[in-house]
Amino acid sequence: MRIGIAADHGGFELKVQLTAALKTAGYEVEDFGAHELAADDDYPDFVVPLARAVASGNVTRGLAICGSGVGACVAANKVPGARAALITDPFSAHQGVEDDNMNIMCLGGRVTGYALSWDLVRTFLNANFKGEERFKRRLAKVAALEK
Ligand code: RB5
Repeated sequence: MRIGIAADHGGFELKVQLTAALKTAGYEVEDFGAHELAADDDYPDFVVPLARAVASGNVTRGLAICGSGVGACVAANKVPGARAALITDPFSAHQGVEDDNMNIMCLGGRVTGYALSWDLVRTFLNANFKGEERFKRRLAKVAALEK
């Protein structure tokens, strides 16, 4: 599974930590930046390319991090085909994939610490869309908004 990751300055440290953990766990990781800590950088510059890569299938799943996770989520969901959510709890980390086919998980680097973030990432990556008719029906109504 190829994982894309992106963060602004608010999520930079968590991105470094999660990237290392993902690689140690055997995942291939594509880093969409920021590649250095810059206090005035802007989350859309990193999150939008990540979301496009997820939507096109160039990476399987995405992790988008900013200070709160909110801006990253707002930006990612502007990209057609991206289904991003800000996650802070394990239930949503798997149910968001199982029912809603979430393909980008957003985290707040100033909100959720590394240990819980890594648990959430593993839960997200191990979850699969159930594909049941009612879930597909709901997602088709969402996808129709992108046309
Ligand atoms: C940057 O200071 C901060 O606003 C950003 O990382 C994020 O929290 C936005 O949602």
